[in-house]
Amino acid sequence: MRFDIVTIFPEIFESFLSTSLIGKAVEAGTIEVNLVDPRAFTEDKHRNVDDTPYGGGDGMVLKPDPIVRALESIKPGNAARAASEDADDGAAPPEPWRVLLSPQGEPLAQRHLDELLRKRHLVLVCGRYEGFDERVRSFVHQEISLGDFVLNGGEVAAMALVDGVARLEPGVVGNARSLVSESHADGLLEYPQYTRPRVFRDLEVPEVLLSGDHERIHRWRRLQMMLRTRERRPDLWGEFTPSGDDLAELQKAGQGGADGGGAAASGAGRAGLDRDATLALARRTYIALLHHPVYDRGGRVVTTAITNLDLHDIARSSRTFGLAGYFVVTPLSSQQELAERIMSHWKEGHGAAFNENRREALELIEVLPGLEQVVARVEERHGARPVTIATSAVRRPKQLTRAQVRDFMARETPVLIMLGTGWGLATEVLDRADLHMTPIEGPTDYNHLSVRSAAAIILDRFFGMRD
Ligand SMILES: C[S@@+](CC[C@H](N)C(=O)[O-])C[C@H]1O[C@@H](n2cnc3c(N)ncnc32)[C@H](O)[C@@H]1O
Repeated sequence: MRFDIVTIFPEIFESFLSTSLIGKAVEAGTIEVNLVDPRAFTEDKHRNVDDTPYGGGDGMVLKPDPIVRALESIKPGNAARAASEDADDGAAPPEPWRVLLSPQGEPLAQRHLDELLRKRHLVLVCGRYEGFDERVRSFVHQEISLGDFVLNGGEVAAMALVDGVARLEPGVVGNARSLVSESHADGLLEYPQYTRPRVFRDLEVPEVLLSGDHERIHRWRRLQMMLRTRERRPDLWGEFTPSGDDLAELQKAGQGGADGGGAAASGAGRAGLDRDATLALARRTYIALLHHPVYDRGGRVVTTAITNLDLHDIARSSRTFGLAGYFVVTPLSSQQELAERIMSHWKEGHGAAFNENRREALELIEVLPGLEQVVARVEERHGARPVTIATSAVRRPKQLTRAQVRDFMARETPVLIMLGTGWGLATEVLDRADLHMTPIEGPTDYNHLSVRSAAAIILDRFFGMRD
């Protein structure tokens, strides 16, 4: 693997290239690192590499000519050639891959290092002062940043890149196996590591690591990797797809499914479940909006009035997420008639001609007098009683997380999500529900979502596609 580093401060690299694993790799010829100073490509007597910016402004800008001439002086190299896949076919060695170090580049991640290793010959261009003349960008292949912060120069970023790429080169790190379990190697952070002493200031090494039981140790480490990633890096966790064994381990450890703040395989629409599987689940899921029995402000069981907005909005959400149906539950015949009248305007009347999409959504609605009739209707359609899920705006004992609810939903039975109007579902409904779901909460104490908003959020959590 060959690196050429274009820098106006080559001396910065001296100890880096002669110390520890990188020093050994350079000495053994496993990696080759050349330092190229753009000053050598200046023609004025002061060897100026920078100049003031056109248009005014602070600081100095690196001139394009010395950098581009430095780049052009770097020819395809032997190290790249020797290790490339087609080394023996007599073809020309691969062109060096030019990388500009810049806070405006792609933030460096492990996958970049894997890709850069395959290039075999990298040219790393370090900026200084206020950065490069913009035209330098036309002469490089890629722009990489060490992160969302600004350094004085690209040299530290270049060292990070050489260090990260070189350790992937066979022979640089003694024990190649240690690369496999490291953080980011398979999308998870590494497990916690311990060495002697066994007790340090009352802090003990976990018992499992002293057990000598390699299978147990392996499983513990894998679990720690998942828990640590889920807690510290929800972004990585959202991208991770746990295996069946992983899910079993999480469950055994009392960590529910794969959710818990992050995402993962048990979250429909995310990693692990594709669009078809999510749609298949949605196609046997129903939502029921109960206008009775629900509580009023004073804790009395009442029947609330149907609203036009709830009919339309929940129907549109149900249609969007692919649900099998939307039940509007009210025992009052006058309210049932009102709902039917509103719907018929959009299903058969002027509305149908005016807005075809609305008809499609409202056709999902069925108005029924009670929950029993809803359950019977689902059973009639699917040949099985639905799993009933109660929702609530307040925390109660035995509520399950989304991931835990989702595990039940995966059991091939139809599903009925029950939403209350007024001040929420009455105890008689809650007592009969198979599952209770944790409320939707924001970071504030205020929790007064409209039922249509709650419905949309719940459906998105179970069936929303993630980008
Ligand atoms: C002070 S910085 C110039 C920043 C430039 N004015 C801007 O805002 O984009 C000087 C040089 O340090 C290097 N540098 C600074 N921050 C960096 C980062 N986060 N990653 C990689 N290189 C960085 C780049 O080579 C840059 O040209």
